[in-house]
Amino acid sequence: MKRLLRIDCSSRIVGSHSRNLADYFEKKWKLVNSSGTVIYRDLAKQQLPHIQNNTIEGFYTPLEHMSPESKQATALSDELIEELKSVDDILISSPLYNLNIPSNLKAYFDQVVRVGRTFNTNEKGYYGLLEDKSAYLATVKGGRYKGTFMESHDFQEPYLKAILGHMGIKVRGLFSLEGTSDNGVLEQNKYLAQQSIDQSFIKQKHESN
Ligand SMILES: Cc1cc2nc3c(=O)[nH]c(=O)nc-3n(C[C@H](O)[C@H](O)[C@H](O)COP(=O)(O)O)c2cc1C
Repeated sequence: MKRLLRIDCSSRIVGSHSRNLADYFEKKWKLVNSSGTVIYRDLAKQQLPHIQNNTIEGFYTPLEHMSPESKQATALSDELIEELKSVDDILISSPLYNLNIPSNLKAYFDQVVRVGRTFNTNEKGYYGLLEDKSAYLATVKGGRYKGTFMESHDFQEPYLKAILGHMGIKVRGLFSLEGTSDNGVLEQNKYLAQQSIDQSFIKQKHESN
C-alpha cells in the first residue's frame, strides 16, 4: 500500500493556485493508488518553529551523549523525519514568494535535512539517505519566468530540486503554473499544468507495464 505525504505552504488557504494544482495531482494519485494513504502537512495552518541553537547542537551530538534538553529540541525534527521516511511519494505545492519558496517551507527543510538521518558524508562528499522516494512538485508563480530574462531569478524550482536531491529524493514530476496574476493566460496555463500531471501518470503506467 503506497503512502503519499502532501505538503502545502501557501499562506492563502482559499483560492490558492498551488493548493488547487496539488488537489488535482492528489485526485489522480488516488485513482492510481486506490488503496493508498495520503498524509497531510499544511505548513501555513501549522507553522513550524525555526531551528534554534540547541536544535543544531542536538543535530551534531551522538544520541548517547544527548542531554534531555537536546532531545527535546530535536523531537520535532525526529517526528518530521519519521513521517518523511514512512512514505513512498512526496507532493510539495509551493508558491513563489520573493523569488524563492515561502519561509515556512524552508523552516520544514531546516528540520528534516539532518546529517546521519536524511543525508550523510563520505570521502567523496554528501550523499542522500532517502533514495527510495519520489517527489512531485506543484510550483506556482505570479509572473512568467521560463524562457524569459527572469528565468535565472527563479530560486524556487532549482532549490527544491537541489535540497530534495541532497536527501537522495528524486523529483519525478515538476508541474509548473506561471502567470497566476495575468488573467489573460491563467486558464490556459492551468489547463496545461493539469495536462502535464495527466501525462506524468500515463508515463508512469507505461513504465510499470
Ligand atoms: C509575499 C509574496 C511574494 C511574491 N513574490 C513573487 C515573486 O517574486 N515572483 C512572482 O512571480 N510572484 C510572486 N508572488 C505572487 C505569487 O507567486 C502568486 O500569487 C501565486 O499564485 C501564489 O500562490 P497561491 O496562489 O498558491 O497562493 C508573490 C506573492 C506573495 C504573497
